[in-house]
Amino acid sequence: MAFPIQRLRRLRQRDGLRRMVRETSLSPSNLIYPMFIVEGQGRREEIASMPGQFRCSIDLLIKEAGEIFGLGIPAVILFGIPDRKDERGSSGFDPDGIVQRAVRAVKDKVPDLIVVTDVCIDEYTSHGHCGIVKDGRIVNDETLDCLRAMARTHAQAGADIVAPSDMMDGRVAAIRTELDAAGFPDTPIMAYAAKFASCFYAPFRDAAASSPQFGDRQSYQMDPANRREALREIALDIEEGADIVMVKPALPYLDIIAAARAFTDLPIAAYQVSGEYSMIKAAAKADWLDERRAMMESLLAIKRAGADLILTYFAKDAVRLLD
Ligand code: PBG
Repeated sequence: MAFPIQRLRRLRQRDGLRRMVRETSLSPSNLIYPMFIVEGQGRREEIASMPGQFRCSIDLLIKEAGEIFGLGIPAVILFGIPDRKDERGSSGFDPDGIVQRAVRAVKDKVPDLIVVTDVCIDEYTSHGHCGIVKDGRIVNDETLDCLRAMARTHAQAGADIVAPSDMMDGRVAAIRTELDAAGFPDTPIMAYAAKFASCFYAPFRDAAASSPQFGDRQSYQMDPANRREALREIALDIEEGADIVMVKPALPYLDIIAAARAFTDLPIAAYQVSGEYSMIKAAAKADWLDERRAMMESLLAIKRAGADLILTYFAKDAVRLLD
């Protein structure tokens, strides 16, 4: 008898065979495309640290929203970059704020595109923190009032899903109660449940001008060393009423995605963050990596680890390759 009997290479010999036994696949339906919105008209500025990504004004956003929907991508997540910032981030919960207007415009022009909004005040605060600052500390419970108002005004503008990314304790319950009381019991919450204090958000902070003006985010975002704590965060968010739970970043945290998958039957989202995107872009530009292959391999890995949904700046490029 020839050795070995088990030859795993048998099923790897031809494309057809490989396709037949492929365990994981990526579909456009799994993707959510993040977009940055600025004030003005006809503005479309490339973000230096995120080649191929733009800050655009609402008139151009609605054009692009049509293209995105046409590509088969079901959803976008919107980040507002306001002209006006203050201590409480009040332009973030103004019914006529940048995101609120952007949501109305997209829902008016491309009603079937699912619009997710990021609920967090850091892009709107002068100090750049995700919470109200008192005596140099980020205070939890007062921040919840801002988050409630922000989520409510997003829902009133027509947001299909609100996504709190601040990491304050109790925010999911606070937002759920607020939405229910305001007549939005059917608006789902996608909670950034396990959000780590990561260096991989740096290009985003450059894009959104939201770097903290003092200190860092370690008193509210999670310690990258902690896996059990991530499951506690996820459990709490589910208890408080989350409909989808998110792990962020994605590729350096595949073990957390896999642990979340084993832990809950809720849909799991993973955010392939700005730094993950920009690393691949930079390496490809230097000819050190094949951009398309690196993109598809990382998205597939995130899916294989257990994510149902992936927020990714590669959404449009990936869908074009899937065709
Ligand atoms: C907070 C928020 C951030 C990101 C998404 N929501 C920034 C942060 O926590 O500093 C980062 C996304 C990315 O890096 O792509 N509003």
